[in-house]
Amino acid sequence: MKIEFQLNGRAVCLDAPADRRAVDLLREDLGFTGVKEGCGAGECGACAVLINGRTRLSCLMTAAQLSGQRVTTIEGLSENGTLHPVQKAFMEKGAVQCGFCTPGMILTTMDFLSRNPDPRRPEAAAALSGNLCRCTGYEKILDAVLSVDLKQAVPRSGSGEETAGTRSVTVDSKEENPRPVFLPESLEALWQLLAAHPEARVFSGGTDLLVWLRSKKINPRALVCLDRIDALRGIVEHPKEVWIGAGTTHEALLEAPAIARFFPVLAQALKTLGSPHIRRMGTLGGNIVTASPAGDTLPPLVVLGAQVVLASGNGTRRLALDAFIHGPGKTALVPGEIVSGIVIPKPEEGLLQHFEKVGLRKAMACAVASLAALLAISPDGRIEKARFAWGSVGPGVLRFPDIEASLAGRPFSRESLDAVIPAVRERVAPIDDVRASAEYRRRVAGNLMLRLPTVFTSENEEKNDGTR
Ligand code: FES
Ligand code: FES
Repeated sequence: MKIEFQLNGRAVCLDAPADRRAVDLLREDLGFTGVKEGCGAGECGACAVLINGRTRLSCLMTAAQLSGQRVTTIEGLSENGTLHPVQKAFMEKGAVQCGFCTPGMILTTMDFLSRNPDPRRPEAAAALSGNLCRCTGYEKILDAVLSVDLKQAVPRSGSGEETAGTRSVTVDSKEENPRPVFLPESLEALWQLLAAHPEARVFSGGTDLLVWLRSKKINPRALVCLDRIDALRGIVEHPKEVWIGAGTTHEALLEAPAIARFFPVLAQALKTLGSPHIRRMGTLGGNIVTASPAGDTLPPLVVLGAQVVLASGNGTRRLALDAFIHGPGKTALVPGEIVSGIVIPKPEEGLLQHFEKVGLRKAMACAVASLAALLAISPDGRIEKARFAWGSVGPGVLRFPDIEASLAGRPFSRESLDAVIPAVRERVAPIDDVRASAEYRRRVAGNLMLRLPTVFTSENEEKNDGTR
């Protein structure tokens, strides 16, 4: 496939396999060895590059996705032998030891400072939380980030002044039949592609797909990337519901006032999903179609009564999310169909919303068990209505309407919730022991309910204190 893009200010024209990973193309084929590969799975940030000024993990991108983009690697930062101010800050603060993580750290810092020129330390720590360092420790790295001379750094970030001359490279395919990667820019083009390539695997974000391709968990004959279709992105508020384009990234959702206002339970779940890099690349539609029992957005969406909009060349249909997911990795999608949007009804005013997840570590953890809860509490402290949805403790998201109904009229207390926990533990059905034993998951699923009165009490106290 012919792939043209701008790399560190210079035009590049490649004849390369479309499905080659971008990290391999940049590092192995083009010699930009500042692009490191650590985990190859989106967890370490070593492979981060800037695409149009925003960091992207090159281990989770195909070469085809670079086409038409402005790509910056660490090699593109210094000018005429003078280090970029972010590079200088890392050196001066002793933020580099072996240097393996440093290119990803520096490029992520540039993206961060371009959006937050006056950062506080916790904000910097959060922004770099998807970049792992095995030797320096993080304090000196944060010292470096906070010491950067912004006046010099930000205007140069990813500016990519054009350099004369196009570099042309031919990259031999390692495969006999490299699979094509299509990047349609409209729904009309997409329907034509899917009609011509019914066997193609459609993806949006690609944060799981690239890992699956590499491990040969899947072996599709063609790939169709939805990321360039504008009609699949955005958030539109209607009087009774909110429409979210399936290609909307988790980062965009977290920045959207409508999500924070109407669906705090979803916003809470999004904050726990992967790293900032994954939230920038991954999409809500992708998380839904993956249909993982541990999918972080699924319990909040189910508890909120979300519907998915399925679209094809023949029109659209809507399905309740819990009816759409048939089991791990299985959905109601038929060939030629995609998830184009998610519609969430606006909940009634005053509902308490909460999401909680237990994983094996604090950040970037897959859920051992998660719980999304919606509760209506009367002025005298009784449960008027309760909806719960559990993730990671069954083949899909689990709800137990009879248990919810049994709580109506009871005091909103630990004792009331404790009384239904045996039934919850009996009915959740973890499908594997991969991250934790089934027995542990059952216990956690029940215990997550016990925290609700405390969580809501402390949230209310904080609100009343004016600390939020
Ligand atoms: S190599 Fe670790 S995130 Fe890409
Ligand atoms: S300096 Fe060695 S991994 Fe960060």
